[in-house]
Amino acid sequence: MKEHFIIALDGHSSTGKSSLAKKIAKTFSILHIDSGALYRGVALYLYKMGQIQLLGEEKLKDVLPKIKLEFVRNGNQSLLYLNDEVAEKEIRSLQISQLVSNVAKDENIRDYLLDIQREFAKGNSVIMDGRDIGTVVFPQADLKIFLTASAEIRAERRHKEMLETGEEVSFQEVLDNVNQRDYADTHREISPLKKADDAIELDNSLLSEEQTFQEVVKLLQQKGLI
Ligand code: CDP
Repeated sequence: MKEHFIIALDGHSSTGKSSLAKKIAKTFSILHIDSGALYRGVALYLYKMGQIQLLGEEKLKDVLPKIKLEFVRNGNQSLLYLNDEVAEKEIRSLQISQLVSNVAKDENIRDYLLDIQREFAKGNSVIMDGRDIGTVVFPQADLKIFLTASAEIRAERRHKEMLETGEEVSFQEVLDNVNQRDYADTHREISPLKKADDAIELDNSLLSEEQTFQEVVKLLQQKGLI
């Protein structure tokens, strides 16, 4: 096993990146950083403080250092804390999902989170999931994976997950959000979602979570990382 390595896991929303990353992290005792949770954390902060209108404004630069984002381990889970309060459930609500792609378009926010993401990885073996990990955050990652699946299948997965946490939304609302975010993520100017040239594309529309996990384990073995 290589001493320190970085796995960049990018792809569309609701492809199961986070669950996959968690499982890889647990199996191989490495760190998992969910970069989307950081964007969601910023969205939640701006929303709660009534400061969403600062997006795209220079004034936002003064606000960003007030946003403290941490991952705190709780058993097997790693929970996002926003200014010392657990924010894990709130950041996943449909309301925040509807705001987050606009938040992710803001150049100052991307710059602010870029440093934070690189800092988290220092001295650790890491799997980081997101949209621009293999292209921008860690262009030198040891393994880059680009995960995709059809929009309908992704919306079905997300819908099920939301119903399980008690959030009452229709399938259509979730599908609309998936499509809107795909569009926003692939069309934004800064760090758009795109497959890095050297990333391996994995379409898991027809694969179970376990099968997807096994595919990644094979790739890690092929690269000599485990
Ligand atoms: O869970 P899901 O894959 O749907 O989304 P997420 O990973 O929690 O990310 C939420 C949003 O943050 C995405 O729709 C992107 O707009 C943005 N994001 C980003 O721009 N860059 C990243 N590295 C991670 C997330």
